[in-house]
Amino acid sequence: MASDQSEQSEQSEGSTAHANPAWVLVASNRGPVSYTLRADGELEARRGGGGLVSGLSAIDSDADAVWVCAALGDGDREAVRRTEGRLDPADTGGRRVRMLGIDPGVYADAYNGVANSTLWFVHHLLYQTPLEPSFGPEFRAQWASYETYNRAFAEALADEAADGAAVLVQDYHLALVPGMLRELRPDLRIGHFSHTPWAPYAYFRMLPDDIAEQLLRGMLGADRLGFLTHRWAGAFQTCAASVLGRYDFVSYRPEGEEPHILHPRTGPNRMRTTLGVHGLGADAGFLRERAHRPDVAERMVTLREQIGRAPDGTERKTIVRVDRTELSKNIVRGLFSYRLLLAEHPEWRGRVVHVAFAYPSRQDLAVYRDYTAEVQRVAEEVNAEFGTDDWTPVVLHVRDDFARSLAAYRLADVALVNPIRDGMNLVAKEIPVLSERGAALVLSREAGAYEELGEDALVVNPYDINATAAALHEALTLPEGDRLERAKRLSAAATALPPQRWFLDQLEALQRA
Ligand code: F6P
Repeated sequence: MASDQSEQSEQSEGSTAHANPAWVLVASNRGPVSYTLRADGELEARRGGGGLVSGLSAIDSDADAVWVCAALGDGDREAVRRTEGRLDPADTGGRRVRMLGIDPGVYADAYNGVANSTLWFVHHLLYQTPLEPSFGPEFRAQWASYETYNRAFAEALADEAADGAAVLVQDYHLALVPGMLRELRPDLRIGHFSHTPWAPYAYFRMLPDDIAEQLLRGMLGADRLGFLTHRWAGAFQTCAASVLGRYDFVSYRPEGEEPHILHPRTGPNRMRTTLGVHGLGADAGFLRERAHRPDVAERMVTLREQIGRAPDGTERKTIVRVDRTELSKNIVRGLFSYRLLLAEHPEWRGRVVHVAFAYPSRQDLAVYRDYTAEVQRVAEEVNAEFGTDDWTPVVLHVRDDFARSLAAYRLADVALVNPIRDGMNLVAKEIPVLSERGAALVLSREAGAYEELGEDALVVNPYDINATAAALHEALTLPEGDRLERAKRLSAAATALPPQRWFLDQLEALQRA
């Protein structure tokens, strides 16, 4: 770890009084563990995965790093109550985790109202604009909660951080934290990473002007802003220049250097926020090991039975997709495209199966519940239209099962990743690593992964059902040599920046800032 503690001697004004200050801090809404309260009153801890969890494992698990997160539900809030927010390391894999017990009403407004129903929609272009968004008093009340929730994080981080420590704040939930933390602790090195796309300016400006400005200023409290692709970093820079340019924020895109934004002169030196791109990749070592455990082998047997064999006894081809049932994932248009493939190419009937896993997400929001129902309805429609006694065209599973996802990855002939818009999309990177059949990748040009995988994928406009159906046909019929060569290159590109390197690169860049 690059932080040199010996050089950080005396504590500067405003720095922490904490007994065991941290040198590296991560802040995210969802933490690495969540709790459920069992009927017998015991708490059951469930550890999560994902890029951030494996990224953080790159630094020693001893005491000088802390992860600050929010209590998401009743189980978490009970854990906070029992531990005063400092979770039992036995539940966290030895990590120091500080969980914030934010008032449930404030949390619901901040998470469901602002983060998921506003910022997520803006960055993923999800509004049906004749009717929404509509920013009135209800939104203003939610925004006040969002500020309170961000302030709770900023204060906890200020409390935990050693003098000059590096703080890595994650995502749109916490866009105001860098600015708030900068005021509390000017000594810190503050980074913020966006795991989502960034909205184009024309869409971003739907936000009320003062809110748009507050968001950008909040983020620009950071020394460094990280994005998954150059496209999202560029979109942020355009928004910042357009909204804040009149206040003398100046944007630079120098050749050969990272782009940056200079802030209005408030002292002898202008503050500078650098924009960096870190394209999170798949964790090949973890995936390969995990995908060869017995529970995955079991799921492969079951899946093979569900997929079945073609009338001539050969194995049916598979078109695999695995998503959270998230509005931006475009699962319904994926099903429409598959239906069109079967309609236009009858030769595929009985010879291909669409394996679609659509796992629950954000079920507190009605629009997500409706979308899940629509996915199920369309899948049933396709099965009713084309299915036969021994062929189910769409094998849809909606209950989360990681082992089954890995089994599907291994069995994939074609991976379908067609989001309307996506920060990266790790499924596009994971399937090439695990597919045993050298899967062809049908990939939306609006996924962040397109920047790295576009050359070897079959690229689609996610709104174009005809083009997606044609791409599925092409993917199913690619000559074997071409497909295997592409698969090899896709797998190499997908693993170019594994989570640990991704995390360390950001930390080192921040410490250089
Ligand atoms: O996948 C993008 C992302 O922003 C992740 O960084 C983040 O963990 C997730 O979405 C948030 O999802 P949820 O609302 O389920 O926590």
